[in-house]
Amino acid sequence: MARRSLIWLSALVSVIAAQSSQQSTFSPARPPAIPLAVRSPYLSTWQAAGSDGGNGGYLAGQWPTFWTGSINGWCGLIRVDNNTYTWMGKPDPLPQVVSQTAFEYTSTRSSFTMDVNGQVTMNITFLSPVDPTDKQRQSMPVSYVNIEVVSADGNEHEVAIYTDISAEWTSGDRNQVAQWSRGVAQGSSDSGGSGDLAFHKVWRQTQIEFAEDGDQAAWGYWYYATENVDGLTYQSGADTDVRRQFTDNGGLNNSEDTDYRAINDNFPVFAFAVDLGSVSSDSKESLFTVNLLQNNSVQFATGQGLQQVPSFWRSSFSDELSAVTTFYFDYANGARVSAALDNDVASDSRAAGGDDYVAITSLAVRQAWGAVQIAGTESENYIFLKEISSNGNFQTVDVIFPFHPMLLYMNASWMKMILDPLFINMKSLWPQDFAIHDIGSRYPNATGHADGNAALQPLEECGNMLIMTLGYAQKTGDTDYLNQNWDLLHQWGQWLINNNSVIPFNQISTDDFAGPLANQTNLALKGIIGLQAAAMIANMTGHSQEGSDYANTASDWIRQWEQLAVNQNANPPHTVLNYGDEDSFSLLYNLYADQLVQTNIVPHSIYTMQSEFYPTVKQEYGVPLDTRADRTKSDWEIFCAAIASDDTRDMFIQDLAKFINQTPTSAPVTDLYDPSTAQFAADIGPFKARPVVGGWFALLALNQTGLPDESYIGQSSS
Ligand SMILES: *[C@@H]1O[C@H](CO)[C@@H](O)[C@H](O)[C@H]1NC(C)=O
Ligand SMILES: *[C@@H]1O[C@H](CO)[C@@H](O)[C@H](O)[C@H]1NC(C)=O
Ligand SMILES: *[C@@H]1O[C@H](CO)[C@@H](O)[C@H](O)[C@H]1NC(C)=O
Ligand SMILES: *[C@@H]1O[C@H](CO)[C@@H](O)[C@H](O)[C@H]1NC(C)=O
Ligand SMILES: *[C@@H]1O[C@H](CO)[C@@H](O)[C@H](O)[C@H]1NC(C)=O
Ligand SMILES: *[C@@H]1O[C@H](CO)[C@@H](O)[C@H](O)[C@H]1NC(C)=O
Ligand SMILES: *[C@@H]1O[C@H](CO)[C@@H](O)[C@H](O)[C@H]1NC(C)=O
Ligand SMILES: *[C@@H]1O[C@H](CO)[C@@H](O)[C@H](O)[C@H]1NC(C)=O
Ligand SMILES: *[C@@H]1O[C@H](CO)[C@@H](O)[C@H](O)[C@H]1NC(C)=O
Ligand SMILES: *[C@@H]1O[C@H](CO)[C@@H](O)[C@H](O)[C@H]1NC(C)=O
Repeated sequence: MARRSLIWLSALVSVIAAQSSQQSTFSPARPPAIPLAVRSPYLSTWQAAGSDGGNGGYLAGQWPTFWTGSINGWCGLIRVDNNTYTWMGKPDPLPQVVSQTAFEYTSTRSSFTMDVNGQVTMNITFLSPVDPTDKQRQSMPVSYVNIEVVSADGNEHEVAIYTDISAEWTSGDRNQVAQWSRGVAQGSSDSGGSGDLAFHKVWRQTQIEFAEDGDQAAWGYWYYATENVDGLTYQSGADTDVRRQFTDNGGLNNSEDTDYRAINDNFPVFAFAVDLGSVSSDSKESLFTVNLLQNNSVQFATGQGLQQVPSFWRSSFSDELSAVTTFYFDYANGARVSAALDNDVASDSRAAGGDDYVAITSLAVRQAWGAVQIAGTESENYIFLKEISSNGNFQTVDVIFPFHPMLLYMNASWMKMILDPLFINMKSLWPQDFAIHDIGSRYPNATGHADGNAALQPLEECGNMLIMTLGYAQKTGDTDYLNQNWDLLHQWGQWLINNNSVIPFNQISTDDFAGPLANQTNLALKGIIGLQAAAMIANMTGHSQEGSDYANTASDWIRQWEQLAVNQNANPPHTVLNYGDEDSFSLLYNLYADQLVQTNIVPHSIYTMQSEFYPTVKQEYGVPLDTRADRTKSDWEIFCAAIASDDTRDMFIQDLAKFINQTPTSAPVTDLYDPSTAQFAADIGPFKARPVVGGWFALLALNQTGLPDESYIGQSSS
């Protein structure tokens, strides 16, 4: 009897769960914002999911937004047996929302499972491909949404799908006038269906190349596209009219509104409806793409003046429509290579750090790739990076540094594409003898700093450039690159020595929000490892005299550093934030580079000491960055995790996974937060959508993670 009532009870519980409007599972986590269409700095649409401004991770009942939080109208309706439901967005009036039962993300996909009145199940998959083997596919700003429907109750149902985008995608200034058109393009003949593509094209009427409104691009052409199947109808017009047309009739009336007007003037939307007919236990699918086509991606100052760098799609396609059509019908390939990447990231992450680490790395992938753009021609191409949200700087060296573990892991040879613009700039335009901070104050304009005035992080950036260039050459065997750039690499080694970087003068580090400070322990370590990297570069390029000079100084420095950096009397001992400040501490994240490029200069005892120390100062969601404020940086936490003992590594990983699941913040995941509350760090504008989450791949960029082997560490100081 007891067993029977338990069964009855659990049946009752599931009835209640099915009746309560929204009960979704979230796997592997409920991120603070769900990536929907995230491919580039300007194709970046998310669903806010945290409790603080988001709706908990449900697709229906709330509008998607650009990474800034501005609405990007994107609506989804479904009609089942003459009743209309909402599956995405928040149309007004709002047809009843479907019941979301599951959400899942991988590195490249966000998938939602929807129960439509117990009659039909929908599987909605947002795919933003990542393909680090193919520059053409990786560069194309296209994102997919695939909608699969199947009968849930065994009966046949009449089903039609509706979706639209609004003109909000075309500008962050909602008073701007939008213009649009529509058409059908001939597609590839081997695609199965009609092979033709129906599209809406929408743009900011006044195009301003390379300009932004509220971080959204002020130039380029948006395409919303789907296959021109039987049963497809379209319409453009005021949001309420077009959505009501579908809600009432289950189809659109193939009409166009040609009253081009402001984005916020009776919000024009661009809609498709697909009548899928009768749906039974055989599923039916509809695929849509959203694309941003720009002739040129960025402006880049070189020794030859300011160049307009063409978007990479133009190297293969003569016009926008052939690119849009080709990539629509490339879905199967894009999905296949993306699934392979998803599986690699998941299995490598699981092996290195368990299931929590899978939740972390998989969330990072689209965000990190979404802050960069491959541009140029077949023969000359680059990866350009926007320092999203913190200030919009172009190709920021100390943002590339935390981003780059992901790139080393996915395709180390592409490191050259992100380093090249820095070397080109510094060879021709940069007058200072230390490494630059960025090559333009505001993406997409890499106009440089010919006056020598960029943000001043001289020690940080010299170290970063030496470490990253060495790491690239080690992983690819491209020693030529070191030869080609020896003059600058040597100059930065000299700068570290001339400035006695073991005693860093009063300056900011990459954590510039904390302000300047003299004698920063972690910054000094960057200089020492950077100098040892310079010694290895010198050896690899036949500069043996410089190699031994650098190595001798670096080993003197590490002995000096150990005396100054460690508070031996603390219980347990640990390195301090700055020399002499015995009560202070900080994450010693620059130690990671000692393993990444195998400088092996830091004594093993420092690794074990820090690994034993971190758990003693941890808070609920992580270890504070330092003793100056209630905040931490998750990229640096994972750098520390990668070189820690198994227990300490797991602690960092578990706490960050918990942060991802529980933070009330509701933006593309922040890297700067309060480790006791999981809120944004106080007094600093929210960091969001930043590429530095590439640093969450720190474990995977190392040949082996965890505490390094004692036998080959720190010989120079023993
Ligand atoms: C839907 O409405 C149409 C037109 O009123 C009607 O012919 C049809 O039987 C209805 N279908 C269902 C499943 O109720
Ligand atoms: C939904 O579709 C995606 C992509 O086609 C697939 O990987 C996933 O397994 C599907 N989920 C369900 C619940 O059918
Ligand atoms: C890296 O990208 C190049 C194309 O740029 C490709 O040929 C190569 O196979 C990729 N390497 C890896 C390891 O995927
Ligand atoms: C980039 O420079 C152009 C002029 O070449 C200017 O119109 C545009 O506003 C600048 N973009 C940004 C984001 O500042
Ligand atoms: C299409 O629908 C709109 C909105 O429902 C309506 O105003 C318009 O008259 C219709 N056009 C045609 C050609 O039926
Ligand atoms: C883009 O480039 C093509 C080819 O040069 C040209 O025909 C077209 O007018 C350009 N479009 C814009 C918006 O500049
Ligand atoms: C340290 O670097 C700064 C900036 O390049 C420079 O002005 C200063 O002279 C350097 N100090 C020494 C001792 O070389
Ligand atoms: C930095 O540390 C050195 C070595 O302990 C010390 O001589 C110097 O006074 C410190 N500088 C500052 C500004 O505290
Ligand atoms: C450089 O080469 C010399 C001679 O082979 C060797 O003794 C030294 O350890 C090397 N230094 C580094 C940093 O690789
Ligand atoms: C990592 O392992 C590979 C393959 O074993 C090796 O070629 C490479 O030199 C190693 N890299 C470092 C930095 O140790």
